[in-house]
Amino acid sequence: MDGNGRWAKQRGKERYEGHIAGVESVRSSVKAAVRNGVEWLTLYAFSTENWGRPAAEVDAIMALFCKTVMGEAKELRDQGVRVKIMGERSRFSEEVLKMINYIEQTTADAERLTLVLAFNYSSRREITLGVQDIARRIAEGTLKVDDIDEQTISDSLMTAQMPDPDMIIRTSGECRLSNFLLWQSSYAEFYFPDTLWPDFTEEEFDKAIEVFAKRDRRYGLVTETKE
Ligand code: FPP
Repeated sequence: MDGNGRWAKQRGKERYEGHIAGVESVRSSVKAAVRNGVEWLTLYAFSTENWGRPAAEVDAIMALFCKTVMGEAKELRDQGVRVKIMGERSRFSEEVLKMINYIEQTTADAERLTLVLAFNYSSRREITLGVQDIARRIAEGTLKVDDIDEQTISDSLMTAQMPDPDMIIRTSGECRLSNFLLWQSSYAEFYFPDTLWPDFTEEEFDKAIEVFAKRDRRYGLVTETKE
């Protein structure tokens, strides 16, 4: 969800106002995802590196997260949206932790779409924690080195219960992953629209789905043998 700051700057507004506008695009994207039959949508809302931003901006994002969760949880549940928060929780305030539990519990039984909010997430940190977990199991004797396969690694990540992403969209024209789902995106289709996140409407989401539908996914094979 990139470009909130630039969107605000273009309008002579404060950066946090870009994040507020960005929440509307979260709503639009969730609606469009449900309408298009998408079953998993992961939004990169706050990276581990984002703690390094000015305290006022970090506080504004945390407050916005709490306010949005409080205001939207029941509406999301009614739309069939189950919300999961993905990231390290140790650094969050009591208030944020309370909201995380609230939204996860309120929406737990919804079944149309799982909305994963990557919040205090970074892929290298996730992989590091996964490697620690695997090493621990080897030291305990519950896992053998030769038994480690790709599934063992996938299962050690925060995304263990999730499918790999089919498509990764980064708005605002930046063409990089910035520590997002590095292992999981091996065969993802990438899409980098110039649109800033607050301008990312339902129509923009539909356009991304159209782009995806036209891609030829070969997984290292040739088209004729793919089946
Ligand atoms: C990136 O734009 C955006 C963020 C770091 C924050 C995104 C957060 C929200 C939309 C609100 C969070 C709330 C919920 C409910 C998910 P940027 O600030 O890096 O933009 P720039 O590159 O133009 O400066």
